[in-house]
Amino acid sequence: MHSSFASRLVAWQRRHGRHDLPWQVKDPYRVWLSEIMLQQTQVKSVLDYYPRFLARFPDVASLAAAPVDDVLAQWSGLGYYSRARNLHKAAKMVMDAFGGAFPPERERLEQLPGVGRSTAAAISAFAFGRRETILDGNVKRVLARCFGIDGFPGDKAIEKRMWALAEEILPAAAADIGPYVQGLMDLGATVCSRGKPACTACPMVDGCVAAREGRTGELPTPRPKKAVPIRHTAMLLARHENKVWLERRPPTGIWGGLLSLPEFATTLEMEDWLSGRGDGDMLPAWPELEHVFTHFRLIITPQPVRIDRLHAAGAAEADGQWLDIDQAVDAGVPAPVRRLLLRLASD
Ligand code: ADE
Repeated sequence: MHSSFASRLVAWQRRHGRHDLPWQVKDPYRVWLSEIMLQQTQVKSVLDYYPRFLARFPDVASLAAAPVDDVLAQWSGLGYYSRARNLHKAAKMVMDAFGGAFPPERERLEQLPGVGRSTAAAISAFAFGRRETILDGNVKRVLARCFGIDGFPGDKAIEKRMWALAEEILPAAAADIGPYVQGLMDLGATVCSRGKPACTACPMVDGCVAAREGRTGELPTPRPKKAVPIRHTAMLLARHENKVWLERRPPTGIWGGLLSLPEFATTLEMEDWLSGRGDGDMLPAWPELEHVFTHFRLIITPQPVRIDRLHAAGAAEADGQWLDIDQAVDAGVPAPVRRLLLRLASD
């Protein structure tokens, strides 16, 4: 596979790859501009912006001479505006430090603001035919599957291994480097897609480790999941006749501004709250409920209480109210609270 990877890819790219993209030219300015636009934007949107940008700034000299606000205005809608600021800075640097011409060497291109190793390699390969290669997310996926590389590719050690491999498998002939690098992009963007790779249409299928072992769903290895912290809370289901006590949550934080059940850190606080409001019985706690947020898991202990007699002071408060249980279910409460209220309604 190592030895035939490049020749298969180049042959496939020539037959099945993309050849009509407007940045498939030798002008390093045009290649550079497209690579910056494509860093965080889909091909479809770039196809729209790219010609307009070029009409306004046809070469690096015109871009460098323009006020930065004009550049930002042309960039408007593409997002990630630091790209546009860096673009302008880099154009000035090409004019001042490189004498108005993009250098062919990847290492020198990497000195330009906004140009990382992959972007520099793409310019060096496409515009100057240098034997350089890229390693973006798509290429990492292709390599991880083809060569059976386990481990999260965002991991420094795995990434280093992948760069070494990517350098090893380059085609020998300089004439092949353009189609090769474009082939890496095309294969990753079309055939070797993340969700449903089209292995039967892939030139690598009979040598691909993931295809052979049925592991395209496992490779590349996903980012390891961070252990999320656990928080505990007790929620009070205070019931009086067919009503339940709900409180408005503070406007910020989780469930900001929603009606919810009162929460307590300790049983003591809960009893304190209750004694101010009425006479009744604590019932046995219900089974714990888990709710998963992005940054933590919340374990809820539901504590039902039946209040037989309300104290006069316990009728209403600025941030709380007694609501019919059926009404409460529909009142825009957090999902786990809704589940608890549904259970309360059927109790
Ligand atoms: N994404 C990044 N560079 C690209 C290119 N040259 N063609 C298509 N998609 C790309």
